[in-house]
Amino acid sequence: MCGIVGYIGIRQASPILLDGLRRLEYRGYDSAGMALHHGGALDVLRRAGRIDNLKQLVQEQNPQSLAGISHTRWATHGAPTDSNAHPHCDQSGKLALVHNGVIENYQSLRDTLKQDGHTFSSETDTEVLAHLIGHFYDHGNGDPPAAKLVAAVQEALSKVKGTYGIAVIHTDCPDVIVGARLGSPLVVGLGKNEHFLASDVSAIVAHTKDVIYLNDYDVVTITKERYDVTSLEGGRAKVKVSRVDFTEDDAEKGDFPHYMLKEIYEQPNSLRNAMRGRLSRDEATAVLGGLQMTPQELRQIDRIILSACGTACHAGMVGEYLIESLARIPTEVEIASEFRYRNVPTTKDTLQFVISQSGETIDTLAALREARRKGIKCLGIVNNVASTIARETDGGIYIHAGPEIGVAATKSFTSQVAVMALLSLLLGRIHHMSSTDGIEMIDELEAIPDKITEILKQASHIKQIAEKYAHVDGMLFMGRLINYPVALEGALKMKEISYIYASGHPSAELKHGVIALVKPELPSVFIAPHDAVYEKNISNIEEVKARKGPVIAVATEGHPNIEKVADEVIYVPRCPANLSPMLTVVPLQLLSYYVAVARGCDVDKPRNLAKSVTVE
Ligand code: G6P
Repeated sequence: MCGIVGYIGIRQASPILLDGLRRLEYRGYDSAGMALHHGGALDVLRRAGRIDNLKQLVQEQNPQSLAGISHTRWATHGAPTDSNAHPHCDQSGKLALVHNGVIENYQSLRDTLKQDGHTFSSETDTEVLAHLIGHFYDHGNGDPPAAKLVAAVQEALSKVKGTYGIAVIHTDCPDVIVGARLGSPLVVGLGKNEHFLASDVSAIVAHTKDVIYLNDYDVVTITKERYDVTSLEGGRAKVKVSRVDFTEDDAEKGDFPHYMLKEIYEQPNSLRNAMRGRLSRDEATAVLGGLQMTPQELRQIDRIILSACGTACHAGMVGEYLIESLARIPTEVEIASEFRYRNVPTTKDTLQFVISQSGETIDTLAALREARRKGIKCLGIVNNVASTIARETDGGIYIHAGPEIGVAATKSFTSQVAVMALLSLLLGRIHHMSSTDGIEMIDELEAIPDKITEILKQASHIKQIAEKYAHVDGMLFMGRLINYPVALEGALKMKEISYIYASGHPSAELKHGVIALVKPELPSVFIAPHDAVYEKNISNIEEVKARKGPVIAVATEGHPNIEKVADEVIYVPRCPANLSPMLTVVPLQLLSYYVAVARGCDVDKPRNLAKSVTVE
């Protein structure tokens, strides 16, 4: 949440900052701003709303500067107005700061600073931090300004409670940008005669592929020629330069009108990438070296906890069905924000997985840290390589889905499910699964990408259905067994991007309350593949039809009987029930996408949401 970009070098800063912000807009889009060094003073440009508003201001003012910091905001403290937009300045107006995170004790710091004569022009916690750093700078010793600024940042950050990724500049040292992180990501980009700071590499990958992922408590100073990383307490910090393995084109929309649609269409490929090199026909199992566990250690596991938020949590729920049915290991899904404050019983051989596309979701990170405090081995199922969760876990499985920019998660879900399937194949083979069954599962897994391609060919049919129902106020999503989480995911997609109220239910729960809502204006989407409960789903559809509720069904091809009861049917290719979520979810992604487009919604940037949720 909130995106930061900083630049110092030999090129004009404002276009680089604007382009970087545009690539970080998925992190928040309530306001945007930048502060640039200019002739011994600061140019501060800020605008509520989208980055285009800031772009217009930049075009009007045409600031000339080779160094600056910038920010796109997801509001936490204070409404999304011009005055609450970052950057914020200190009392002197000589220091500017951008911030991602939450300063929890900002009220008491603000009161103390006010007593000292400070006046504030925003309601944000960030402005308090700017004033605090400014206060320590103004009371600093006789060091050169750059050293004094680093010391002031260190001193101020030692007084705050909360999380931060920050970038700071001061007019006294125009050749320096200072950054720091605790709980919110920050990356340093290394160039020739230029350096960058960013919340995420996608903001700077067009300029450099060499980056340093900062750790918590790191403080970094960048100039045109060099960088220097110290720890909050002073000493030198460990630094590792990494090479980014994707290009800026991977994070572009290409010919697609929206990132979400592009990412839906990428799924055959992203699934191939999730499985590449991980299926062994010789041993009829999955090879997951990143787990860093021997078969003996894996065999000892007697309980698995899967912890995640949002879509990743739905993928975890699919994982629970898979692991329990294939490996017979008791598995529990814990919503990360709950797990961190609960006291979940565990055994000495419990294994926890945290699942996160971004690898930065603060609640998921907290669930990981809570598990580690309890001595539970915790592994990650993560997309973003080198993200905080990826680095803090004891190992894990990357999903290799490539950059996912659309705020509504799509390809990360199917890739997370694919990885859960690989994991359950591995665990199943260690326990009861025969090699024949293992080979059969490998065949079915390898067939999934082409089957998704077949589903995507039905996009225009799904679009027609979407346009027919786009005007409704609500939708129900029903599924059973392993497709119940798919119902939840379908409902989440619909809510997120079309603002239609939607809820997901196990189909048989219909008669325990939900059926009271059924009426001609409320469509129900049934995920009813040809599995063990197909006939039961058909009965539930009949119950809805008897009450004049329209029904859209996702069914298996070759079983057209469902057309007798459902108003609309979208077919998916045949596949074993256990793997069906990777297919059945795709029509629901397209349905919500086309409903949102028909309603004129901003698909990639739904209101109030952000993709990487780094606040609690
Ligand atoms: C936010 C996003 C969701 C995502 C969830 C978890 O709510 O809008 O799309 O599923 O966070 O994100 P993660 O990066 O941890 O998978």
